[in-house]
Amino acid sequence: MLMSRFPGYRPRRTRRTGALRALVRETEVRPGDLILPLFAVPGQGVRRAVGSMPGVEQTSPDQLLKDAEEALALGLGGVLLFGVPSEKDERGTGAWRDDGIAQTAVRLLKRELPELLVITDVCLCEYTSHGHCGIIVDGDVDNDETVPLLARTAVSHAAAGADVVAPSDMMDGRVGAIRAALDAAGFGQTAILSYAAKYASAFYGPFRDVAESAPAFGDRRTAQMDPANVLEALREVRLDIEEGADMVMVKPALAYLDVIRRVKDDTGFPVCAYHVSGEYAMIEAAARLGWIDGPRAHQEALTAIRRAGADRVISYWSRQFARARRG
Ligand code: PBG
Repeated sequence: MLMSRFPGYRPRRTRRTGALRALVRETEVRPGDLILPLFAVPGQGVRRAVGSMPGVEQTSPDQLLKDAEEALALGLGGVLLFGVPSEKDERGTGAWRDDGIAQTAVRLLKRELPELLVITDVCLCEYTSHGHCGIIVDGDVDNDETVPLLARTAVSHAAAGADVVAPSDMMDGRVGAIRAALDAAGFGQTAILSYAAKYASAFYGPFRDVAESAPAFGDRRTAQMDPANVLEALREVRLDIEEGADMVMVKPALAYLDVIRRVKDDTGFPVCAYHVSGEYAMIEAAARLGWIDGPRAHQEALTAIRRAGADRVISYWSRQFARARRG
């Protein structure tokens, strides 16, 4: 029962000034809550803009290091690294090479910025010629053929120095296989952030331009979740936790705030939300047309995702957020 009644309780009293609004604010977004995605490409001095993702670039390791330095100086929670190789093949063998693009970038980051938290995305879609997240058998990704390759990729990232590996493929059983492989290889301290409730979403479009990972045929609906389901998300999340995930992810974020809340309440585990490329690009596009106030919309989106229960948010706007904080 609400005891407070008008006119005794006047909600507008605490909205009069910025200081009063701050006094009663329930949700904060701090730079440390945000994780910045970075895209590594081979080469030197490369900074390539991507049309559908204004402000996001493919960078060679030397340039990526500069972005990572800024992320650290701004107090961001860490970076999420994606490798975009120059050569692809049927099996995505570039994903687990010791001298692969992701491994090279991780090694450089951990050598130059040991305090920076480095999370690596573990998937094959950036490395396969067909753009699917694993080995194709009879026109679809074969789960059990793919899982060992993901485990091998995760171990190669750990060997390069990754603090956290983040499998984004949505194969069944991959978290358990990755945990076992890491432990067997002596990387018992490498953590797993599983993309546990990852939906088959139209909001990944711009990412696939940056990561060059659009499927050449079909889509990802046989692996990623149906946007209509939330109870299934809870089963996916529980399964990943049982298999050894240290932290779980919900993805996308803005269209799935209810899922974030349910996962947080159901598990009590650290929950990370991926505020994905299309969600970012929509705001940027409308802002560029002068239809909305971009910075305010970005801030509001991040606040909503945190309010829904996400402890950490992966966001392409992380640096701009933290820079604005600095003034
Ligand atoms: C797969 C992966 C994807 C994203 C992160 N990891 C794309 C996909 O599943 O097709 C999407 C991220 C975004 O849209 O920002 N490796």
